[in-house]
Amino acid sequence: MYRKLIEPLLFSLTIERAHRIVLLLLRVMGLIPGGRWLLHRCYGVSHPVLEREVFGIRFPNPIGLAAGFDRNGEAVREFGALGFGFVEIGTVTPRPQEGNPRPRVFRLPKDHAIVNRIGIANRGLDATVRYLRRGHEGVILGCNIGKNTDTPAAQAPADYLKLFRSLYQYADFFTVNISCDNACHDAKTYTKEYLLEILNPLFDFRRGQSDYRPVMLKISPDLTDREIDTVTEVLTSSPLDGIVATNGTHDCRRGLHTSRAGLDKIGSGRLSGAPLTQRAVEIVRRIHTLSGGNYPIIGSGGMMTPDDVLAMLDAGADLIQLYTGYIYNGPGFVRSICEALIADANRKARQTGQESPAAEEAPETPAAPETEPSDAPPADGAPSAAPAADTPAADAPASRP
Ligand SMILES: Cc1cc2nc3c(=O)[nH]c(=O)nc-3n(C[C@H](O)[C@H](O)[C@H](O)COP(=O)(O)O)c2cc1C
Repeated sequence: MYRKLIEPLLFSLTIERAHRIVLLLLRVMGLIPGGRWLLHRCYGVSHPVLEREVFGIRFPNPIGLAAGFDRNGEAVREFGALGFGFVEIGTVTPRPQEGNPRPRVFRLPKDHAIVNRIGIANRGLDATVRYLRRGHEGVILGCNIGKNTDTPAAQAPADYLKLFRSLYQYADFFTVNISCDNACHDAKTYTKEYLLEILNPLFDFRRGQSDYRPVMLKISPDLTDREIDTVTEVLTSSPLDGIVATNGTHDCRRGLHTSRAGLDKIGSGRLSGAPLTQRAVEIVRRIHTLSGGNYPIIGSGGMMTPDDVLAMLDAGADLIQLYTGYIYNGPGFVRSICEALIADANRKARQTGQESPAAEEAPETPAAPETEPSDAPPADGAPSAAPAADTPAADAPASRP
């Protein structure tokens, strides 16, 4: 039904309007008794081989929703019900901001890509807190935080700290976004000094808390090798927990199937989707190798097929995030990736002569609840939203070397 009816309808609308409708429909599903259970029954897969322990948190599967999709945290539980192993909301800024004038998001169907120059439009910290107060039981939540566009670079650390403090109690982990155009001012953004100016106040605040919240840093795919090495050095020499690689690109526009005239009409913006796959995988491999394979990496960028996901995991990613691939493949995409991961685990087990983990237990869909309150968590056996490892006043959760 999705492919025949809903997808053509959504693709006939502008991408931002389609996005609004999807969020609205999801929220309505969340209000209907049994709605989230039904979503999970259609789209969720639970299986032991999908589970991952990363930075002290147990994930039901490694496939997450990338930042920018649920920017204000409106439908976290509904995305969890759609089978995602975790959901990253944001980018949230301290004050609400409109972003750039519309149109500002464009599909490039011939390239399975999107160009966006939204400019971190979001409803701001207060609205996000109001949404998150409703709870997100059973869904692992990442908060992606960024500075307001009009905040000067010198005051950027204060913006990040304000968001970190205010959202600390709601999130399971944080992603510090320095990869968006409003956060990068110049080459200085990727110097060790600048990164630590932003990160150190967060680490200081965290040391005073009884619960540990991992901090990830999200980077652009357009970094030079030297800048990637600097970021990796920050990772290995500070309490930073991991890297999210990568955001959309300004650089990978060569060789696109979309006409030059079409691209000129669209104008500037970050390109995501298939043209980004190779670069994102390369960056993950470089960071994984340089850091000795010991630090968590979330691979994001051009995950359009289950094989892309397998290649990203093979390059060293611990977790994966989807955005453009989800738009082009629809809500069944998480399920097909999870099924491919189970099949891959089976294949590897056979090759090494072990008992097949997947053969022991078929993928599960949840049993119907006896009575389901409309705000019940998806019946997916997902772990508690609280990180498994509470490491008070420590900078190193269990997964750090
Ligand atoms: C329309 C759109 C909006 C986005 N907004 C954000 C954002 O607010 N913050 C952020 O860190 N990344 C944002 N991203 C980047 C995605 O999270 C992701 O890192 C990037 O698109 C690469 O993944 P993909 O190729 O699967 O789309 C956005 C991407 C798109 C397409």
